[in-house]
Amino acid sequence: MATARGLFVSFEGGEGAGKSTQIRLLAENLRAKGHTVITTREPGGSPGAEALRHVLLSGAAEAFGVRMEALLFAAARADHLDCVIRPALARGDIVLCDRFVDSSRVYQGVTGNIEPLLMAALERVSIGTTMPDVTLVLDLSADVGLQRARKRAGEEAATAAPDRFEKEKLEIHEKRRQGFLDIASREPERCRVIDASLDQTRIASGILSEVLQVITRKAATPGDGGQAARS
Ligand code: TYD
Repeated sequence: MATARGLFVSFEGGEGAGKSTQIRLLAENLRAKGHTVITTREPGGSPGAEALRHVLLSGAAEAFGVRMEALLFAAARADHLDCVIRPALARGDIVLCDRFVDSSRVYQGVTGNIEPLLMAALERVSIGTTMPDVTLVLDLSADVGLQRARKRAGEEAATAAPDRFEKEKLEIHEKRRQGFLDIASREPERCRVIDASLDQTRIASGILSEVLQVITRKAATPGDGGQAARS
């Protein structure tokens, strides 16, 4: 279900797909058009969720199994929504979120093999009816994505060690890519698949035009327009 006010945009895709760059460019482009934009990320985005991010990405929770990890991702998401995302949407802001529930569906549901009933229950508890208005799936072949992610990790080796998820194998990355594409084909109203192998400027202008279309459509829907939809 779309949010009543503001605009909620999530970015999804495998490692190395260029989400952070595209979020930064979209935020700049929308601000230049007068919109109020906040950028955030998962796991994390609020103080409580950032504490859980540390537990999850350091690998500290790994020993307790994939179900425990799935619960922690869901707990982090609930806090992030309550403390950051819903208040921003209520103000009418545009929220750009680096990963959201589709990452859990793919990383925990598809490649973590968590049973669908548990995944559905966690979604109900963590997000209720707050789904993104639009989800941009940055799609890239697994080998190119991994190469880019490794390069990035090498360049930033002094400050950022690759997390445990980044160490996983190509086959898993290919499954995840397919997982995101499957979600996009099941939910074409919400999801747009973006070819992440193009150059950054072309990707950015494609994304901007998709998001502007959603803003225009939202403005035309009675009772569904906030600041994002008006300006
Ligand atoms: P991050 O450093 O933010 O990497 P990326 O640049 O790939 O977004 O790490 C987040 C990791 O957490 C990433 O490997 C995906 C994983 N993840 C899940 O497994 N489930 C989730 O619900 C979310 C939000 C992330």
